[in-house]
Amino acid sequence: MTPNRHQGRTVLVTGAASGIGASISRQYAQEGAKLAVVDVNAEALEAHSESLRALGADVAWATADVSDYGQCASALEQLRRALSSDMDTLINNAGISPKVNGKPANFWEMDPSEWMRVVGVNLHGAFNWSRLVAPSMVEQRFGSIVNMSSVAAKFFVSFTAAHYGTTKAALIGMTRDLAGELGPHGITVNAIAPGRINTPLMRTASQATNDAIIQETALRRLGDPEDVAEMACFLTAPESRFVTGQVVDVAGGWLMT
Ligand SMILES: NC(=O)c1ccc[n+]([C@@H]2O[C@H](COP(=O)([O-])OP(=O)(O)OC[C@H]3O[C@@H](n4cnc5c(N)ncnc54)[C@H](O)[C@@H]3O)[C@@H](O)[C@H]2O)c1
Repeated sequence: MTPNRHQGRTVLVTGAASGIGASISRQYAQEGAKLAVVDVNAEALEAHSESLRALGADVAWATADVSDYGQCASALEQLRRALSSDMDTLINNAGISPKVNGKPANFWEMDPSEWMRVVGVNLHGAFNWSRLVAPSMVEQRFGSIVNMSSVAAKFFVSFTAAHYGTTKAALIGMTRDLAGELGPHGITVNAIAPGRINTPLMRTASQATNDAIIQETALRRLGDPEDVAEMACFLTAPESRFVTGQVVDVAGGWLMT
């Protein structure tokens, strides 16, 4: 954490009410940014926003399902008005990984609506928000976007279903394409591929699964949400101004390439 590093910036974080998104928004607040936080869970988001205000941050919150472009557009208008600011930084963090009794569904048995839902949230959500904030970033010739991928984008991971790995791999492709298009306008776009991070989402898998991963992880522990927050704040800070189109693993040496 670097105090005041993001002073003067306005940062939008999706899926901010829990886990990694909560930690990322907290670190930006500690680094001096104004926060626009978005989630589907209004109650948790409001409580989290209060905790960010207690850190001294200027915070606005809005509920939106990231898979719904119209809801995102209305939320952005609300957040812009509340903060009197366009967004300089976008963290596309919201994501889901449905399981049944702690296990992923086989794709050949999956209800097609579940496939569409995961694609909608994990992939279309990142498109929707990038599409909405990029025009003002292009106008101000400044900005950065981070997409939350996963190591499941790069390897077959047996405890996430096919929709999850597919959307996380697609986010890496999207990161490259957006970086190519936005680079000439002074905007960076990168992705983070977290390993196993200790959040409510991770706890949808069994303890045995998580214990086995710890044994396969060079640093012999699960990640903390703060480990990912540090990387998000770095990838959008002046120190990383010449880094774009990249995917950074924050995985403690699990599934090293
Ligand atoms: N925890 C891990 O081990 C891990 C590993 C790799 C990648 N990731 C990725 O990191 C991101 C955050 O995961 P997490 O572990 O913090 O999960 P989490 O479940 O703790 O938090 C996700 C947040 O996203 C919100 N959300 C879900 N659907 C939404 C929607 N349609 N619109 C808006 N908000 C929505 C939830 O309400 C929740 O607050 C996800 O994209 C996930 O795929 C997590």
